[in-house]
Amino acid sequence: MKFSIVYFSAAGHTEKVVRHIAEQLGGVDRVVDLSDPFLKACDFSKDERVVVGCPVYGGRIPSIVAERLGKVSFDATRVVTLVTYGNRAYEDALLELNDVLLTRGAIPVASAAIVAQHSMAPSVAADRPTATDYQNLSVFSRFALQKYDELHAVPVQVPGNRPYRAWSKMPVTPVVSGKCIHCGQCIQKCPTMAIWITDPKKTDPSKCILCMRCVAICPQQARQLPAQAKEAIEKKLAPVAKLTRENEFFF
Ligand SMILES: Cc1cc2nc3c(=O)[nH]c(=O)nc-3n(C[C@H](O)[C@H](O)[C@H](O)COP(=O)(O)O)c2cc1C
Ligand code: SF4
Ligand code: SF4
Repeated sequence: MKFSIVYFSAAGHTEKVVRHIAEQLGGVDRVVDLSDPFLKACDFSKDERVVVGCPVYGGRIPSIVAERLGKVSFDATRVVTLVTYGNRAYEDALLELNDVLLTRGAIPVASAAIVAQHSMAPSVAADRPTATDYQNLSVFSRFALQKYDELHAVPVQVPGNRPYRAWSKMPVTPVVSGKCIHCGQCIQKCPTMAIWITDPKKTDPSKCILCMRCVAICPQQARQLPAQAKEAIEKKLAPVAKLTRENEFFF
């Protein structure tokens, strides 16, 4: 049996983990990419098997994930869920993701919080997930498989608090250097269409969610966080940069 995947992955780490799990379980069938600004409404039947993942932003799920999951409906479909986070903390994100999915009709039956390179400070958790992390994920996948087949689906308990922690993004957008060759990739791939279609140097701060996709994909490394913001983030993350956090799995 093949597995469907539903994910938001700005810098690519979450997508890799979600795909790894689905591939371990039998292969990828349907793909729903929540970063697509033109995402069409879709639904999953009771018998489909789905893996859902997103990154952690400020201990929460990105607000765009909750918004775009509003277009995805489930019919008591069992889902395996995961969040990836950059070695600081995942706080309420996994709980929030599972809560949103329950409201959409899904039943989260197994969940994971996985450490991945920090997309805002790539020197933090730079090598995660490691080969060992992927081995652990393969074991998790085999346990998760049993959860899809159990007679009664019971929602998995995960850590986190309600109300979820408050978080707002830094009031900055990536800036563009003279190395830009106007290839347009950042314009096409921005999940919120925040970059001016005719001028990649202009970003709409009211639309930009600071997801870092444009920074990660720019072939010229022309898009970067403003130097001051970069410095502030690296300083804030310095204490956690030295820690090796363990992945966590819940059944
Ligand atoms: C706006 C923003 C906020 C983030 N907040 C957190 C956080 O609260 N805790 C953490 O450990 N990592 C945090 N991260 C790091 C990401 O959760 C992590 O790098 C994730 O794997 C990125 O997934 P992606 O590559 O699929 O986009 C944040 C990243 C961004 C861009
Ligand atoms: S991806 Fe980089 S090089 Fe291409 S338009 Fe955007 S900033 Fe310029
Ligand atoms: S402009 Fe903002 S929202 Fe768009 S890809 Fe870049 S960081 Fe993400």
